Amino acid sequence: MKIKSNFVLAMLAIPILVGCGAGRDYTPQADASGEKIFSTACTECHKPLSANVAMTLSEKVANKEAIIKKFQSGSMRMPAFKNIQGEAADRLAEYILANSEVK
Ligand code: HEC
Repeated sequence: MKIKSNFVLAMLAIPILVGCGAGRDYTPQADASGEKIFSTACTECHKPLSANVAMTLSEKVANKEAIIKKFQSGSMRMPAFKNIQGEAADRLAEYILANSEVK
């Protein structure tokens, strides 16, 4: 019985670990808008606060370079989106900046 419950615990841990820092393969369509990318790739974790507020940004992340770095590199609790590059990355960062509250 001991072995069996450890196995069940290990199975439960896998999806949690995958969510932690693992990268995502999502690649936006070349002409996807920032809003489209956000709603496809990000709202799973970043639920929009209202129709015009996609997320709350801390002051140090409230610029385009920091936002792009964040989603391309990820962090302990956020996956890296390495395939959001170039103009798609610009559009996504601009969408977030234009639709976020800075706290
Ligand atoms: C699996 C869940 C998950 C997904 C998917 C996700 N994020 Fe995050 N994100 C987090 C968590 C958790 C944090 C807060 C912890 C941290 O900063 O590492 C965060 C933090 C951020 C921050 C920093 C906010 C601040 O002020 O510090 C930005 C910007 C961000 N995410 C953008 C995005 C974008 C853009 C996408 C989609 C391409 C995305 N996230 C997808 C979990 C996620």
